[in-house]
Amino acid sequence: MDKISYDVILQIQKRLNIVDVISEYLPLERKGKNYFAICPFHDDHNPSMSISPEKQIYTCFVCGASGNVFNFVMNYEKISFGQAVKKLAEKVGIKLNIADLKNATKRDDKLKKYYDIYDLVNKYYQNNLKSVYGKKATEYLHQRQISDEIIKEFDIGLSLNDNEVSKFLTSKGCDVNDLVELGISGFNGNFTYDVFHNRIMFPLYDLDGQVVGFSGRIYNGEKENKYLNSKESVVFKKGSLLYNYHRAINYARESKQIIVVEGFMDVIRLSCVGIKNVVATMGTAITKEHADLIRRLSKNVVLCFDGDAAGKKATTNAINVLEDIGIKPKIIRLEENLDPDEYVIKKKKEAFLTHLNNAMSVFDFKIDAEKERIDFNNYEDISSYVKSMAQELNEIKDPIVYELSVKKLSKETGVDASTINSFVANVPKKIGKIMDKPKQTSKSKYEKAQEYLIYYMLRNVDVIIMYQNNVAYLSNKLLSKIALEILDFYDQKHYINVTDFTIFLEDKTDLINEVLRIDSYDLPAKMTVNQIKDYIKTIDDGILKHEKEKIKRQISEETNVAKKIILLEKLAGLKKKECK
Ligand code: UTP
Ligand code: MN
Repeated sequence: MDKISYDVILQIQKRLNIVDVISEYLPLERKGKNYFAICPFHDDHNPSMSISPEKQIYTCFVCGASGNVFNFVMNYEKISFGQAVKKLAEKVGIKLNIADLKNATKRDDKLKKYYDIYDLVNKYYQNNLKSVYGKKATEYLHQRQISDEIIKEFDIGLSLNDNEVSKFLTSKGCDVNDLVELGISGFNGNFTYDVFHNRIMFPLYDLDGQVVGFSGRIYNGEKENKYLNSKESVVFKKGSLLYNYHRAINYARESKQIIVVEGFMDVIRLSCVGIKNVVATMGTAITKEHADLIRRLSKNVVLCFDGDAAGKKATTNAINVLEDIGIKPKIIRLEENLDPDEYVIKKKKEAFLTHLNNAMSVFDFKIDAEKERIDFNNYEDISSYVKSMAQELNEIKDPIVYELSVKKLSKETGVDASTINSFVANVPKKIGKIMDKPKQTSKSKYEKAQEYLIYYMLRNVDVIIMYQNNVAYLSNKLLSKIALEILDFYDQKHYINVTDFTIFLEDKTDLINEVLRIDSYDLPAKMTVNQIKDYIKTIDDGILKHEKEKIKRQISEETNVAKKIILLEKLAGLKKKECK
């Protein structure tokens, strides 16, 4: 079984920038020479993960997750190291011949077949719309103020009658079973029929911009469901897809904001007026998976669901799901029950931008939403309203925002600010984010000597050679393993550097995390041979001390006199060694 060689992996890594790769998954903030992100590997609320462009390494100072670009993709996507390498190799256009990725490739082959079918169907539908058969549908779209340009931008198409697509695809050699699996066709035992008839077709793309399904809208006033979606398949899961994700990703990064709407037409309308950092949940309740995807786009999330009661309910639900993963969204509520599409047409772009620039906080949204439910003449109602809003106040960290929010609630209800405060458990006292500092446990001098020795081995081949010649093993098992790997790396490559060494370690995550933790120590760059000798001496002392303690324990437990004497001699020998 072939393995991807270290040299090939290194070559791939050299063509990548970890900052670019991670920024495709997480919003990044630059601080000094490093970038920071909310760590996806633990329940993080402040950006605890730093990414070093210089070292091409990421490290989370809270949970300790760390590694190189391959480790990130592997851990984030929960795929194997080999698959991560393969994925990134494709990105930089390096072809791999890897036998050990057979399984991954087999799956890919099947998917590729499906993707090819979808691409074919997509083109077919788009051609229909442009053909004479598409006149009426085009008129419908124009009448909804969707220009030909936008039709092209969103790859809008048209399905026809007479099972055209099924006929077309089978004539191209597609297997009926595949068409049924993908929800393009149905089979009734005798013949294959189209699932979509006479509908305006919106292709649905996955995160990478591959078509994985369709949604078709009626346009003749038929009495059927307004939109019909492809059934779920191996490639299409509505709950893990956001409409327009692959297009919005770059705009969200540029504008450092993502707007979430309900429908296709909302996305398309906002795009018409140049607001392109928009994704849609496609009418379904927002899922945890949606929320994770949204967080990947930006942590500044604006929810702009339909202005009706259903939209309000969906907003409350979305707030809960997003807050669960540490996102506090902003909220827009459009008046007159309008959805964003209708709103932009009726009130124009500027009015929408005013909403966007004044989007509400969660607190303000809830204060309004709850308010509707209470009778201000009923003191019990007011009391339960204040208590429920106090729960919300609990979560406000910024003292100024907190004070203003209390004032607002006090004004709404006539209840004194001090009374409201008494219902809040965590009244914020001072401004500023308090970063969770990593816990510094005190280490013995023996522990430290081992770690510092590794620190310098990772930087200097002379230290590696000193280790090789003078140290038998380290008492810390993990560090001992790392030292052996360093020797192995040096043996093969005749140099050392931390980043390349992590690539050599492939998917040995525990070793990588420990290596990078030690590497992050702030020790002086310059060191002397004597200093290293001191570390080695301390390490030896530690081992000796450990052995002495072990023998002492054995002596105290030994009842046989003869055996006890042997142990005592052994102990004396060790003591002599120590004096040398
Ligand atoms: P809406 O009913 O608000 O539709 O559903 P819309 O976006 O305003 O559509 P237009 O303007 O009438 O064309 C919101 C979203 O819910 C999904 C679609 O993704 C739609 O965009 N939906 C709606 C369905 O999947 N099926 C339906 O039957 C209706
Ligand atoms: Mn609409």
